[in-house]
Amino acid sequence: MSKGKSVFRCTECGADQPKWGGRCDACGAWNSLTEEPIRRTVGRSDGRSVQSDSQTVRLSDIGTTPLQRWRTGLAEFDFVLGGGIVPGSVTLVGGEPGIGKSTLLMQCAARLESQGISTLYVSGEESPDQLRLRADRLEEDAGSIRVLGETRLESILHHATQLKSSVVLLDSVQTTYTEELEGAPGNVGQVRECAARLMRFAKESGPAVLLVGHVTKGGGIAGPKTLEHIVDTVLYFEGETTLDHRILRAVKNRFGSVDEIGVFRMTGTGLEPVANPAAAFLAGRTTGASGSAVTALMEGTRPMLVEIQALASKAGFGTPQRVATGLDHRRLALLLAVLERRGGLPFGNLDVFVNVTGGVRLIEPSTDLAILAALVSTVHDRPVPADALFLGEVGLGGEIRPVASVERRLAEAARQGFRRVFLSNRSKTSKDLEVIGLEGIGELTRRLAA
Ligand code: TYD
Ligand code: MG
Repeated sequence: MSKGKSVFRCTECGADQPKWGGRCDACGAWNSLTEEPIRRTVGRSDGRSVQSDSQTVRLSDIGTTPLQRWRTGLAEFDFVLGGGIVPGSVTLVGGEPGIGKSTLLMQCAARLESQGISTLYVSGEESPDQLRLRADRLEEDAGSIRVLGETRLESILHHATQLKSSVVLLDSVQTTYTEELEGAPGNVGQVRECAARLMRFAKESGPAVLLVGHVTKGGGIAGPKTLEHIVDTVLYFEGETTLDHRILRAVKNRFGSVDEIGVFRMTGTGLEPVANPAAAFLAGRTTGASGSAVTALMEGTRPMLVEIQALASKAGFGTPQRVATGLDHRRLALLLAVLERRGGLPFGNLDVFVNVTGGVRLIEPSTDLAILAALVSTVHDRPVPADALFLGEVGLGGEIRPVASVERRLAEAARQGFRRVFLSNRSKTSKDLEVIGLEGIGELTRRLAA
């Protein structure tokens, strides 16, 4: 980058372009190019005559000490991180506004303080008075957390160094700016530079840093997406703000496994880890009603039971409606076509509504069989057995295929009181549940009608 010029960087793919345009040449995204601010301090060298203090080391000469971790005691949070906060790591907690990121961080800080681990909670979004109001609501005693209302990174690092804080919590990365760059807080360059500086600070000085990052519904803008490459761990906090449940999901983790989720409930006194996450989304299920079937999803290494509801009713005039909530409507269209052609169940003049309860989204095809079971059940107006689980992918030929991690799913279902499972006849038998092996969906419709 020559002095006085700037480049335009795509927030979607990270590619640089010399000229601004409405569309990124590399990935084709619209309105994603942002001007990269130029550094005020320009100190560079060609690298040939450079002296270096750093040293190389052979991997075998590095001792293997087990990773130290600070457990917060918020069970689901520690679980998602892989056992607790790693000193010297930077963790980004992303999520939509209002989902509970600040609450989560404040509870973590309170719990760390109660173990004598010093924290610094920096807020550029709320004043110390507002933080105090939140703290008063929490079950935890947050009184000993040290707070700082500041948005200038240099000043934040100064305080963190002076206080020798073990954990620095920064709320949020979008309100923080560094003097070294031009541009308003929240623009891509600022956000990325602040994160990179915090990363260096964490690696060199040893504290753990927890960063809050806002994402919009689309998952975009100058936010967490551009930071995923920089930080060690990325957690997303999700859920419907209208529902109590919140899911914390690890999408990147240098110190643990990804795709693990933790389930919380937002209560009047802060977030509460859910003790039995596998059954969290089954709460409130009415057994004995037609059009409902339960399946088991895998979230990371954990099975989760979810209920799928279907309702078919006689359509008015015009094209019948197909409404899917929590699953892809094309998947629903496909399953309806398979059910019609291979199962002999006509949907031509029925409106069909399918809903996954608890705000869960179905992504795995292993949930196909449960969707079909719910559909068959509503058409016949006949409930499926209340203690039955449905597990299987359905092919276009109407064949039912086995699913992965079947033992773990079945063991969890048995623990939650399920007694039988409908699955592919090519799956292994189970010691936990009575297995009803199915070849194709013809057999499913016959079984459920019997
Ligand atoms: P907040 O942590 O401010 O969300 P974010 O930082 O992600 O924007 O909290 C969001 C919501 O949680 C807010 O609407 C109030 C609610 N809330 C509770 O229901 N109980 C509580 O104990 C607290 C502190 C907040
Ligand atoms: Mg907040």
